[in-house]
Amino acid sequence: MSYRNGNEKESPDHRGEYRGAVMKKCILSRSNEETLLIGEIIGRCLVSGDIVALIGDLGAGKTCLTQGIARGLGVPKSYAVASPTFTLINEYPGRHVLYHLDVYRLSGSKDLEEMGYEDYFYGKGVSVIEWAEKIADIVPETAITICFAFVDEHLRRIEISAPEKRLAEIASALTGGGF
Ligand SMILES: Nc1ncnc2c1ncn2[C@@H]1O[C@H](COP(=O)(O)OP(=O)(O)O)[C@@H](O)[C@H]1O
Ligand SMILES: [Mg+2]
Repeated sequence: MSYRNGNEKESPDHRGEYRGAVMKKCILSRSNEETLLIGEIIGRCLVSGDIVALIGDLGAGKTCLTQGIARGLGVPKSYAVASPTFTLINEYPGRHVLYHLDVYRLSGSKDLEEMGYEDYFYGKGVSVIEWAEKIADIVPETAITICFAFVDEHLRRIEISAPEKRLAEIASALTGGGF
């Protein structure tokens, strides 16, 4: 997990690749439709093994963004993506398998260790984690972190941070999509 300003030295990611310092991009979403679209654009950029850490209060738009990511990953529309608050994890087929985690009810990362989270985080699928700040100690620094802030009822400020190259790809796709 990273709350950094992009001045760090390069370090290898969990696949042993050098990906550059962590950089940030801020965008605004004016509606849940826009957040869905932002998620879809990000989803199209995701690759096997990616971890997306979502941070933001209840109602910020984490599940909405995940629904968009599912679209971008090609999860069939017949699957209704909802917060796995009680099941902890939902799995959806797509271009890469989507593991949707909601760790709100966990007291910390220990609970996830017991259920063998490594199979999800370090497997071939894409993991999207709601309330990722609760398990910050086990989220790799190379994760794509997305923080939501309420501006008003419909306006959300969305800050995306990721290793330089990944952020550049995502930022350019978002710019191409009008964000
Ligand atoms: N710009 C926006 N982006 C996402 N959701 C929005 C936005 N504006 C209003 N909303 C509303 O906020 C709520 C977000 O819910 P949800 O995605 O479940 O949040 P979370 O998973 O963070 O608790 C929905 O009711 C949605 O309609
Ligand atoms: Mg949610």
